[in-house]
Amino acid sequence: MKCPLLPLVLAGGLAGLAPVASGADGDAPAATLHPRYLDLRAVPRISGDAAAGKRKSQVCGACHGDDGSGTAPPFPNIGGQRADFAYWQLVELKRGRHLSPMTPLVSTLDDQDMRDLAAYYASLPLPAARAGTGDTPAEPVDAALLERGRALYLHGDAAKGIPPCQGCHGADARGMRDADVADRNGRTPYATFPVLRGQQAAYLQSKLAEYREGDLHDSTSDFIMGGIGRRLDADSIQAVSSWLASLGED
Ligand code: HEC
Ligand code: HEC
Repeated sequence: MKCPLLPLVLAGGLAGLAPVASGADGDAPAATLHPRYLDLRAVPRISGDAAAGKRKSQVCGACHGDDGSGTAPPFPNIGGQRADFAYWQLVELKRGRHLSPMTPLVSTLDDQDMRDLAAYYASLPLPAARAGTGDTPAEPVDAALLERGRALYLHGDAAKGIPPCQGCHGADARGMRDADVADRNGRTPYATFPVLRGQQAAYLQSKLAEYREGDLHDSTSDFIMGGIGRRLDADSIQAVSSWLASLGED
């Protein structure tokens, strides 16, 4: 489904953000490291060598698991994530505007490593869902909370100005449908929109809280999601995170 709100959100989210540096033309990744903001609206697709990525992934397993499934609540699942999204997250982490446990790790990766690693994790299946609705898998499932999360994801909340999440992350939270299909200008603007299905609840909560606080503003995509995050309250964040985390591979 195409996102009818996207033009509005883009316009609103990006207002006052001039000049947006457009350093991502062509395939000159070095140039993309330096603009004030990464312009991800028309970046070329990335490709990488998944077999090489597997060999380079040894160091990642401690936190992201051998199967791409986070080994503790704050560590995101990266198995089955879209390669384009994962690659640009690594680029953002390497730019260093946002400090994280990943910061020292990405400093040793070059551009090809990041492409290969992104391709490798994208080639894995999505991790299996974990039971529970909170930060620990042992917490009992709260059916009303999950239902609020499902409703917000599918329908948004017009009164609060929250668009349906599915408009950009897909009805099944596997990313935008047809994200890989180029438009008539040969662009794939939705290829960098992430899969959310089965993601760890604690990671989703902390990331959404960062968008709400306006802590992430390194790329045009951060501005899109930041405009939405600042309309979410704590209950909405917990509900939608719990529901997404409860979704299984199929
Ligand atoms: C010490 C634990 C640790 C190790 C080792 C580690 N990561 Fe991470 N990774 C994290 C954390 C924590 C985050 C969340 C970062 C943030 O939001 O600041 C993250 C985020 C990511 C993301 C973005 C995920 C998303 O959904 O936004 C990718 C991609 C990623 N890591 C890939 C890797 C790769 C590839 C390696 C190996 C080279 C690696 N990580 C090694 C802890 C780790
Ligand atoms: C207009 C499009 C759009 C809508 C609507 C939207 N998102 Fe997003 N979202 C994005 C984009 C683009 C990104 C990637 C941000 C980046 O690259 O840092 C993103 C990133 C995220 C992330 C970070 C994922 C990760 O692995 O790091 C979460 C969580 C998220 N969105 C949740 C939501 C929720 C919940 C809703 C509904 C309340 C929502 N989004 C609605 C476009 C959207």
